[in-house]
Amino acid sequence: MNTDWRSDDGLLSAQSGAHPGRFITLEGGEGAGKTTQLRRLVAWLQEQGVDPLVTREPGGTAAAERMRGLLLDSANVGLSIDAELLLVFAARADHLARCIEPALAAGRWVVCDRFTDATYAYQGGGRGLERSRIEVLERFVQRGLQPDLTLLLDLPVAQGLARARQRSSPDRFEAEDLAFFERVRTAYREIAERSADRVCLIRADQTEEAVAAEVKACVARRLLAGVLSR
Ligand code: TMP
Repeated sequence: MNTDWRSDDGLLSAQSGAHPGRFITLEGGEGAGKTTQLRRLVAWLQEQGVDPLVTREPGGTAAAERMRGLLLDSANVGLSIDAELLLVFAARADHLARCIEPALAAGRWVVCDRFTDATYAYQGGGRGLERSRIEVLERFVQRGLQPDLTLLLDLPVAQGLARARQRSSPDRFEAEDLAFFERVRTAYREIAERSADRVCLIRADQTEEAVAAEVKACVARRLLAGVLSR
């Protein structure tokens, strides 16, 4: 087993929630390299003997993937912000009940591409929705469940958009303007400051290797040692 993550910095105790599994989320603006880093993280966890459930939001169940289709479809011009918020949380409710919670209850690790921080960043920051409206739905749908660790890949907006827009025709979010994504980034960075015990902010304007090394270091320091020492 690879033990090069061991450290003696005093942060080695697992920070589990009420469930026996571990819940890791990946966040970041468009083009921050989440997909690549998620793939690398999962491969590395498997090397450590952890076989995580890998999933995403919006989505993760058949019904939630259909809601994702509605949210991302650029034909839905002018979808009301409230409808957008409710769709995000409707998808999350199904995803939690039928995928994430059963896996965590069974002691499984879950690695999820985006979660509720994205709602605070996109609907809160980007769209300007009041925080309190998101908080109400968060409490209702999650009943206290929070990720054990969130990896936030942070990249200057122009750089991320240039990468994302090379890939395919823009979806309903990708078609937003620079100012929208600046607000998204600011909101994400505020979350990282406010929730420093849960969120690791990682600079994504480094090589893929360097970002992957930071991701591993965060997971090892915050979660892995506690699991292996049980
Ligand atoms: P993706 O690009 O990571 O696949 O995510 C799909 C889009 O959905 C992305 O532009 C961000 C957006 N989104 C929200 O607006 N609110 C949310 O709560 C989530 C999870 C995603």
